[in-house]
Amino acid sequence: MNGHGGGVSSGSGDVEEKHVSTGSKAAEEKHVSSESKAVEEKYMSTESKAAEEGRDHDVLLAAVWPVTEWYRENKRDLPWRKQTDAYHIWVSEIMLQQTRVEAVKSYYARFLEALPNVKALAEVDEDRLLKLWEGLGYYNRVRNMQKAARQVMDVHHGEFPRTYEEIRALAGIGNYTAGAVASFAFGIPKPAVDGNVLRVVSRLLCSDEDIMKAGVRQRFEREIEAVIPSEAASDFNQGLIELGALVCVPNGAPKCGECPLGGTCLAREKGCQEKLPVKKKAKERRIEKRTVFIFRDGHAVAIKKRPEKGLLAGLYELPNISGHLDGEEAIAYSKSIGLTPVRVKVLGAAKHVFSHVEWHMIGYEMLVDELEKNCSDRMIFAEDGELEGKYPIPTAFSAYADLAKGNGRGR
Ligand code: ADE
Repeated sequence: MNGHGGGVSSGSGDVEEKHVSTGSKAAEEKHVSSESKAVEEKYMSTESKAAEEGRDHDVLLAAVWPVTEWYRENKRDLPWRKQTDAYHIWVSEIMLQQTRVEAVKSYYARFLEALPNVKALAEVDEDRLLKLWEGLGYYNRVRNMQKAARQVMDVHHGEFPRTYEEIRALAGIGNYTAGAVASFAFGIPKPAVDGNVLRVVSRLLCSDEDIMKAGVRQRFEREIEAVIPSEAASDFNQGLIELGALVCVPNGAPKCGECPLGGTCLAREKGCQEKLPVKKKAKERRIEKRTVFIFRDGHAVAIKKRPEKGLLAGLYELPNISGHLDGEEAIAYSKSIGLTPVRVKVLGAAKHVFSHVEWHMIGYEMLVDELEKNCSDRMIFAEDGELEGKYPIPTAFSAYADLAKGNGRGR
């Protein structure tokens, strides 16, 4: 308010110009009163914001021990919870960002058996690494894991770093993964806010802010960090995640009757738990039509390596082209690369959803003579068993790759 008076007397700037231009006393009063109202609102909103933050803090603080104790009594017996090795936890957390807990179990066991430590991950050849990841998707994540493993070897002499900042500095590790590894492995009181935690906190605080916004996640991180108990960081963080997975569930009604926070949850108090969290839809995905080919002879199936950059970079694929080709067009394409089919089979349609694009696919299986000799396109000719054991083929192709893997057997 005082600042406003100072502006008038200074004889310069916006405030004085406004006074001059309003002219009449009435206008001037109106101007002053609306300005002071704005200041008051600002003041009020700052005050109510502070009150809201104080309330959020109290609600979160009151949740700490109920969540921690609930977790200790109710946690699932999961393979990555049997130890506190940072490498094991890291592997599990990256996999859990890709798929469901049940699906992760077998990937986790297989990955750790093949690559039991950071050194093994740093040194493994890329095709083998991608093969271990086949089916999990987001292959750049595992490529980043290898980069991070090499950083650990080079910068940390092979020992997984033990501070939050050093963990956060590794390739592909963001706030969530750094917080999870730091707190689960080393008990460091840093937050690990994933989708489960966003949902739990959004309901607990009855927040109608969009949890897809980075600013909302950052605020939740700050608010959680302020209450994490240093003597139970791991169990508290895991408790929030577990509560989101088992009780404060995403689809359908949350199981408020089983929740250790039933008495303090603001959404439950207001009856709006099923409307939260607010999660605005991401931009619509682009749809791409593709035609996929299984070119085979009695020995092999043709595959290609994808470019080193872009979608599914460096993985292997069945030959495919843009658009939906009818039978004649498919045969013409086949001939254009030197392959005259002796038999053509129309395969069913399949769809694969990536984060920004959907592939709507149709397919043809073409039986040809002497595949390798006649094919003029650059392809790899995978023999019996090699599609299963050697070449990582992304899930996007699995509807057709599963047929190709039969490699003519039993036909
Ligand atoms: N989701 C993310 N991290 C998890 C964990 N450690 N256990 C179970 N579910 C999870």
